[in-house]
Amino acid sequence: MYRFRRLRRDERIRSIMQETRLHPKDFIYPIFVIEGENIKNPVESMPGIFQYSIDRLEEILEQVKEAGIGGIMLFGIPLHKDPQGSQAYAADGITQRAVRFIKEKYPEIYIVVDICLCEYTSHGHCGMVQGEEILNDETLPYLVKMAVSLAETGADMAAPSDMMDGRVAAIREGLDQAGFTQMPIMAYSAKFASAYYGPFRDAAHSAPGFGDRKSYQMDFANGQEALREIAADIEEGTDIVMVKPALAYLDVLKEAALTFDVPLAVYNVSGEYAMVKAAAANGWIDEKRIVMENLTAMKRAGAKIIITYHALDAVRWI
Ligand code: PBG
Ligand code: ZN
Repeated sequence: MYRFRRLRRDERIRSIMQETRLHPKDFIYPIFVIEGENIKNPVESMPGIFQYSIDRLEEILEQVKEAGIGGIMLFGIPLHKDPQGSQAYAADGITQRAVRFIKEKYPEIYIVVDICLCEYTSHGHCGMVQGEEILNDETLPYLVKMAVSLAETGADMAAPSDMMDGRVAAIREGLDQAGFTQMPIMAYSAKFASAYYGPFRDAAHSAPGFGDRKSYQMDFANGQEALREIAADIEEGTDIVMVKPALAYLDVLKEAALTFDVPLAVYNVSGEYAMVKAAAANGWIDEKRIVMENLTAMKRAGAKIIITYHALDAVRWI
């Protein structure tokens, strides 16, 4: 009989044998920036998460800096929405102003910007709309404009989350032509149409006004198709590939890790966070242990980068 338990006898040998270890740099922390002044709005369905106006951002940026995490991911919430999402690529849009503010006050923080129109459009869809249809090719120039305008403010990385076909190639070309050949793209490549985004849509005011996102986000039943989406984004020149959500899709993440030689990210989304927080608030689970187990599983499955609302807590628990 082989005795596996020899290497589990006490904490010292267990910690030597540990295969997967979390590090603060693994994490990217999403931040919601809202137009207005002196705002720190709690997001009800995401305990511990707030919408900040720019003048209140420092409070959370200090914590980010202190935690030494990899970076932040910015989501802007504009006051004005229109069918074209014009505030997404306005020079003085909320996200543009937020990036400039952070760059000036916290140049050491790595800033990823989400590239998508749904927070900025009056209909709440991620692209241009004609009747009930979400247009693909007509949307691409707007995504390019958004990426370039944020690159101009000093954002470090662009993360397109819209799921239009061909957007990685379009954004890469647009960034290159504007002189931002060094700005990496992290594509939400395998992004599934998921009920797990519910709390985010409260936080970012981005719920679709009609219908759903199933004509552009993926069917959660499809693992093969996820690999084809990823292959296409690599072909189009993405630097990093993301799978989203995380927990119900670790098979996709693992499969991607075995299939492709490309850095992988995973997005531990709002609904996953909300479930943990709700159960923990009820005393039904041990929050710290559950969070560390979940995040370690994501890294074990192959994620180089974990985008998570737990980031600041997790750093304290490592
Ligand atoms: C915007 C976007 C969404 C998320 C990230 N970027 C919402 C959506 O696609 O509806 C979800 C993040 C989360 O749930 O935490 N397209
Ligand atoms: Zn969107």
